Amino acid sequence: MKAALLDHLACPWCASPLEGRYGLREGDEIMTGSLDCTGCDSSYPIAGGVPRLNLAMEDLENVARTFGFEWRAHHEGKFESDTLFGRTREEDWAFFLDCMGATADDVNGAVVLDAGCGSGSFTRLIGEHGATAAIGIDINDAVDEAFAHCRHLENVHIVQGNLLALPLRRRAFDLVWCSGVIHHTPDAAGAHRSLSRHVKPGGTLYVWVYAKRFNPFRFVKTVLDAARVTRLPEPVLLRLSKAISYPSLAALGAYRAVRRLPGLQPRSAWGERTVRPRTLTEVQLTWFDALSPEYDSRHSEAEVVGWFEQAGFTNVVAIEEPKVGVRGTATAAGDEPVGDRVPMPALADRGA
Ligand SMILES: C[S@@+](CC[C@H](N)C(=O)[O-])C[C@H]1O[C@@H](n2cnc3c(N)ncnc32)[C@H](O)[C@@H]1O
Repeated sequence: MKAALLDHLACPWCASPLEGRYGLREGDEIMTGSLDCTGCDSSYPIAGGVPRLNLAMEDLENVARTFGFEWRAHHEGKFESDTLFGRTREEDWAFFLDCMGATADDVNGAVVLDAGCGSGSFTRLIGEHGATAAIGIDINDAVDEAFAHCRHLENVHIVQGNLLALPLRRRAFDLVWCSGVIHHTPDAAGAHRSLSRHVKPGGTLYVWVYAKRFNPFRFVKTVLDAARVTRLPEPVLLRLSKAISYPSLAALGAYRAVRRLPGLQPRSAWGERTVRPRTLTEVQLTWFDALSPEYDSRHSEAEVVGWFEQAGFTNVVAIEEPKVGVRGTATAAGDEPVGDRVPMPALADRGA
């Protein structure tokens, strides 16, 4: 953790500023120590260079474990290496700007949150493009790998924390990017409310959630859920994902051939994306990512636009693809969207 991160953090229970007590350092990185709340009795460890502020984890342990396994396997090279879900880093950067409705100049000098940062690859990209601070936050233990992936950049920070109890200052971020995350919580609308509190008035929040439309990977997941196959240990799910990727790749190849026939060519951006060539490792990651999470709610565009409007956002835009991707501009009116703060637990429950 770099000392500059402290300016962006707050107690996830009471939202007060934190004070650092630092131990071991490696260059600019504070590797051990604690962050003590100035408003309540809470104290949070810094371990392995990452501040650990992940609280209110009831019902989230499975999600944290399966994604921790997924991103660790990714960093160990067990899935794709030069791409992530089929996109190169250059494509990811163009995708980020497009979804955010931003230019490279908007990112330069901005304070940016990558909420549910997973591998940390978007956090790193944002940092490499001149953000004042790019903060990646995630609940899973593979934040260690994300930290290793980003620590050479002085403006990039990785935090272990929960979107439903964000350990961040309110109204502090120019840009908040949250792609493919809140449908993996038990309360996607609540996660959106939580995120919206952290966007500066005039700043932009972008979220992408699973759409209510047919997706073969999620269809198979629903079927396997019924047989509890998706609750198998992660190493078994990984082997299953790898095994079913071979016939899937063959099926996707046949689908592409059919969609090249006259009259069957794709007519939408989504259709185009479904017929792109895929590698085996992309399909393997896609299967593991689809099969393993405990929660994977699906949402309509109207529902997500409604979340933005309720939180006082203006310029709300539902982008054409990916669905459902929506962005909006925060207003001062959206300061405290809906007053559901994280309940303050008894000291005993906080391990005090
Ligand atoms: C499908 S991955 C997406 C990662 C990244 N946003 C990307 O686009 O590559 C979903 C991520 O959300 C994280 N996540 C799920 N629930 C979360 C929560 N309550 N708080 C923080 N992160 C969460 C998972 O640990 C996982 O890394």
